[in-house]
Parts: sequence; C-alpha cells; structure tokens
Amino acid sequence: MAELVVLADADEMARVAAHRMGECIASALGERRKASVALSGGSTPGPSYRRLATTFGSSPAESALDVARIRWFFVDERAVGPEHERSNYRALERDLFEPGRIPREHVFRMQGELSPEAAAEAYSAVLARELGEPPVLDLVIAGLGSDGHTASLFPKTRAVSASGSVVAVFPADLEPRISLGRSTLLRAREVFVLVCGADKRAALSRALEHGDEDEVPGRVYLAAAGRVTFLVDRAANPG
Ligand code: 6PG
Repeated sequence: MAELVVLADADEMARVAAHRMGECIASALGERRKASVALSGGSTPGPSYRRLATTFGSSPAESALDVARIRWFFVDERAVGPEHERSNYRALERDLFEPGRIPREHVFRMQGELSPEAAAEAYSAVLARELGEPPVLDLVIAGLGSDGHTASLFPKTRAVSASGSVVAVFPADLEPRISLGRSTLLRAREVFVLVCGADKRAALSRALEHGDEDEVPGRVYLAAAGRVTFLVDRAANPG
C-alpha cells in the first residue's frame, strides 16, 4: 500500500527525505547488520542527498550510521560515461559520495559507457553477487517524470514488462538508459518516491491510480511488496 506525505516545499522535502533515508538505513543495519540503497538521478533528490551526506559526519567514527556496512547502488543511468555531465554517477559523486566520504568500494555504478544491453547484463550480475538472487534492496530512492516515467522505465517502451533484474531502455528522443527492472523495484523493502513541482501533478495523480503501467510506469509502485511512500511537495500534490 502506498502512502502519500505532503511537504511544504523543496526545503522540507530535503529535510524529511534525508531523515527518512537515515532512519531506513539505521533500521536495516539494526536488523541485518548491513544496508543496501539504490539511488535515482534527476534534480529532485539532490538536496536530500547533500543533507544525508552531512549525517555521515566528518569522520566515520562520528557517524550514527556505520558507513562501512552500507552498499550503494543505482536505480538507473544514462548511456554516457561516468565523467559526462548527464551521468547519474557523476551527480551522486558530487552530492553524496564525496561530501559523505563514502568508501568507493561500496559504490556500485552502472556502466553507462558500455552498450545498454551489456551494462544491464553486467549490473544484473553485480546485484546477484552483492544481494543474492533475486536481489532485494533495503531502500530505493525513486522519482517521477512529468510523462509518468520512473527510474528509466519510460512510457510506451514496454520497459515495465521486460524481464531481468536490470533492463536496457530505448526511449524515443532520449539517449538510451539502463534501469532497475520492475521486479527489482517491487521487491525493495522500502521505496521513497520524491516528487516536486506543479509540472508533476498530473503524472502523480495518474501514478496513484491503477491502470496500464506501460502508459504510466510510475504505477508500478502500487504493486510493491514492501513499503512505498510518495514524498511530494504541495505543488505536486494532486489532492
Ligand atoms: C533520472 C531518474 C528519473 C528521475 C525523473 C524525475 O536519472 O533522471 O532516475 O527517473 O527520477 O526523471 O527527475 P527530476 O527529479 O529531475 O524531476
């Protein structure tokens, strides 16, 4: 069942999302002594990641979260190299890994520089090795596009029905993408979907209604096995 939490603005979003991410990681560490988190790109989560980075403190010893036991994965990536300005890895380096002093051996990036099919296959193997088969993530940070896409599952691409824990996606008019597949998103123990801005209101309203997932991939979360919370600002709130 999906919960909707309405926040005043982008500032409150950053504060609440970072706090909830920290809580979720702490609870995974408490229950399983390790935590796995998959991160989306896009502009909405950046401030939350920067805030979360401060949680890790200036030295690992000061942090309430044991950074050595957290593994970081990607929800999706564009078919570009890690230095490219549209690389999600590059954005996460800047917003979270660098300021949070995250041990890079615990960061598992998608290889956007490979062909999307090869990158998807390679990342499926990484997930299987790190998380087992089928892979279960503790936390997924997702977003929603104004066209209804989530992760890199774009409308009318049949990406939602592609099999595999990670899929290659070829949206019209955009560079190809690599994305966690529907089944991997749905198996996560907890998902936060961060949605900000009036341009997302119509997409959010459709994502909260059951219906054709190929038309509105954001609907996949309605079938999630774990907990799903849409953290939305007032401008995006369809209610
Ligand atoms: C990405 C994403 C994508 C994103 C939405 C919303 O890498 O772009 O993972 O699914 O979450 O496009 O993007 P904004 O946060 O920029 O609106």
